[in-house]
Amino acid sequence: MNNDIEKVLYSEEDIAAACKRLGTQLTEDYKGKTPLIICVLKGAILFMTDVIRDMDIYAEIDFIDVSSYNGGTASSGTIRLLKDLDTDVAGRDILLVEDIIDTGRTLKYLEDLLKDRQANSIKVCTLMDKPSGRVVEAKADYVGFNVPSEFVVGYGLDYEEKYRNLPYVGVLKPSVYSDK
Ligand code: PRP
Ligand code: MN
Ligand code: MG
Repeated sequence: MNNDIEKVLYSEEDIAAACKRLGTQLTEDYKGKTPLIICVLKGAILFMTDVIRDMDIYAEIDFIDVSSYNGGTASSGTIRLLKDLDTDVAGRDILLVEDIIDTGRTLKYLEDLLKDRQANSIKVCTLMDKPSGRVVEAKADYVGFNVPSEFVVGYGLDYEEKYRNLPYVGVLKPSVYSDK
């Protein structure tokens, strides 16, 4: 285990099981449709590439890059659009894939953007949901885990851009922050 990690919240096996469960449900729900699956960079990169392997449907993928934490542990409240989609979403069935929903600001921003661009339907699949963190109203349709109000890293999620490559989700040792 990485030396900066205090405890593992969701192991590789836990995550694989969640992807299987969600992928099976999504396969059923999108039967006969060709959704556009949008990966919200950078945090959702690992989850998106795993969960789509558990979806037996025709789908297209695209990427959008937004950021509001700027590497830290608290939302700045301002969403910056760093990279836009390549695809025209008008009339499309959209599946947004996120790693975590916390304050809800990122999701709200993306849903407003997609509605504005005339998407036909918008559903949200997130690996983790932290309902205790909500500042604005935002709801996911597919949730892997409900997480306690702790700052988590790994499996796509960063602290100061590190730890994204860990294959599990965990909590950092307090010393990692206090060494700053
Ligand atoms: C994180 C996370 C979600 C969002 C959730 O992204 O990946 O996209 O914040 O938080 P919210 O519900 O409070 O908006 P971040 O801004 O850290 O960018 P990153 O994915 O590139 O790390
Ligand atoms: Mn993100
Ligand atoms: Mg981040």
